[in-house]
Amino acid sequence: MSAAAGKLRLGVVGLGRLGKRHAENLAYRVPGASLVAACSPVEEERAWARENLPAPRLYGEYAEVLADPEVDAVWLVTPSSLHAQQIIDALRAGMHVFCEKPLSLEVAECERVLAEAERYPHLLATIGFMRRFDPSYRDAYERIAAGEIGRPFMVRSQTTDKNDTDGFFVRFAGTSGGIFLDCTVHDIDVARWLLGKPRATRVYAAGTVALHEGLREFGDVDNGVAICEFEGGKLAVFYASRTQAHGNDTHSEVMGTQGALAIGRVPVANRLEIYGPSGVRAECTETFFDRFEEAFLVEARGFVEEVLRLRGGAVNSGMVGASLSDALEATRIGCGLRESLLAGGAVVL
Ligand code: NAI
Repeated sequence: MSAAAGKLRLGVVGLGRLGKRHAENLAYRVPGASLVAACSPVEEERAWARENLPAPRLYGEYAEVLADPEVDAVWLVTPSSLHAQQIIDALRAGMHVFCEKPLSLEVAECERVLAEAERYPHLLATIGFMRRFDPSYRDAYERIAAGEIGRPFMVRSQTTDKNDTDGFFVRFAGTSGGIFLDCTVHDIDVARWLLGKPRATRVYAAGTVALHEGLREFGDVDNGVAICEFEGGKLAVFYASRTQAHGNDTHSEVMGTQGALAIGRVPVANRLEIYGPSGVRAECTETFFDRFEEAFLVEARGFVEEVLRLRGGAVNSGMVGASLSDALEATRIGCGLRESLLAGGAVVL
């Protein structure tokens, strides 16, 4: 019997900055998973896979993964502009799909994916809003569900990256969708998730280029703020930045009628405090991966467990992670923010 027998056989697609991390998780740290294929059009990335992964079949083209009869599910970590069509192609090939966020940079594309997915109710398709799997965010969600802060009515949430002098995200700006669809989309999903999925009614965004002039040609900014109003008087306030001096400082707060919760407000790398002549300090998380490494792993385990449950005859509850319709709403709000930034003024959704 092969080592993959009974396991979920996965093909990871995209071996860039984040794809390599997902591939290592799937290959070595997720019970029930067998990483049997990896795909990248870039030879150096395939060479990395040859060196670092347990001999999956390597492909240069996505179509080759879809044609592989030994792949049960694809794990898409490709540029955001490709996600929608790649999800549709995977479903048509009979494969379960995990896809990194955002679902798409355009609402119409998201709708196209949802319409197609309805035809394949036995297949799981989920979008990688991994904060839902972070233990502290999860704890907040459960306390809210248990009524600990009364009625939650407002979320204040930020995604801010350490300044990258190499300018990776400037080169990436053409396919990222801009700061709100790339970064704030996480905070949007967190707000909807923690506030009970209210429908957004109006958004307003503003931004500035503090350091990275190269973003202007893409109509993008390196610091942005936004307000989102929801039905029922619920609110969210967002901040996104690419230029923090201290590190990746991603955190959220939830205000309720009988209390509030703050999730990771001080972005310490660990529990060490360093005492010296100039005071007491702690190191900061450097990158999003340092902050959310555990969330990515729990997310991968959750997906594999869920597909194995489906295989065992369970009904597709779509309960693992963000559903396609959650991801559509996140893109709808993100697009509204992009429009508000470009046009000035509030946008009614
Ligand atoms: P990247 O540019 O480093 O990697 C993209 C990968 O896709 C590369 O391996 C590239 O060769 C491959 N690729 C490009 N075209 C392809 C095609 N036609 N078929 C197959 N592979 C193709 O980008 P990065 O930073 O790894 O981001 C990838 C995705 O992950 C994006 O959608 C991004 O939004 C998301 N992401 C999510 C994060 C999170 O916090 N959940 C954090 C960082 C990225």
